[in-house]
Amino acid sequence: MQTAAPIPTASPAGTAIRLRAVAKTFGKGEYAVRALRGVDLDIPSGELTMLVGPSGCGKTTLISILAGLLSRDAGEMTVFGQDLGTLRRDRLAAWRRDAVGFIFQQFNLVPQLSVAENVSVPLVLKGESVGAAVRQANELLATLGLEGRGRSAPLKLSGGQQQRVAIARALIHDPRLLVCDEPTSALDAELGRRVMTLIRDRSRRPDRAVVVVTHDDRIFHLADSIAHMNDGIVDRVARGRQADQPESGEKP
Ligand SMILES: Nc1ncnc2c1ncn2[C@@H]1O[C@H](COP(=O)(O)OP(=O)(O)O)[C@@H](O)[C@H]1O
Ligand SMILES: [Mg+2]
Repeated sequence: MQTAAPIPTASPAGTAIRLRAVAKTFGKGEYAVRALRGVDLDIPSGELTMLVGPSGCGKTTLISILAGLLSRDAGEMTVFGQDLGTLRRDRLAAWRRDAVGFIFQQFNLVPQLSVAENVSVPLVLKGESVGAAVRQANELLATLGLEGRGRSAPLKLSGGQQQRVAIARALIHDPRLLVCDEPTSALDAELGRRVMTLIRDRSRRPDRAVVVVTHDDRIFHLADSIAHMNDGIVDRVARGRQADQPESGEKP
């Protein structure tokens, strides 16, 4: 067990996700790619953590592991105190369904479903009726500037609209852990700000955590902390302005 964690945690609510020496290699032998080489990171509860770094440094791999979409090869990880590696397959699937909202870089919308149906999937999986779920989906879509788009086919929408559908689907079931891969990449400045404010608001509870991978320097100021990745490790964590002022009105 490592005790000298290099990453400071100053969050009033403690640590939501704790990673120590987490490693992941894709492929074998001469084709092996060491995507993560020993990540040490504490992700605070009640906060928005951004993850930045050059293309290929392991950001998507890391967030896929902490969301339970991918397993690690080595190291330790707890998410809200739970080691996902010890869960049986069905328990892990249930945990993902209930606790995680994930915005994929490529959106991953289901083309056969309407926009509102795509967004309502997490609620239906939790047992909500389709009618009620679609109604909630349409309300959330309206707050993201997609009023009246619920019946559209997702692939008929622009990239920015599809991205907001993906965002709505990740938020609809109010997940404890929200993980976003470049959530503003297809949005203009005003929409990007609106979406990020919504995403950040979701972090403001002690049993929550939000992790956002981004290159978008227009939104860095919204971070409580920014973890910098390089070549498969987290080499630096900077606390943001928000976190320097824990007494500010934005904290719960
Ligand atoms: N499924 C995979 N199979 C093989 N290599 C992969 C796979 N996923 C990612 N990689 C490789 O792992 C490294 C890290 O990728 P990724 O986590 O996607 O980086 P980032 O999101 O920072 O761009 C890259 O070299 C990438 O090519
Ligand atoms: Mg990526």
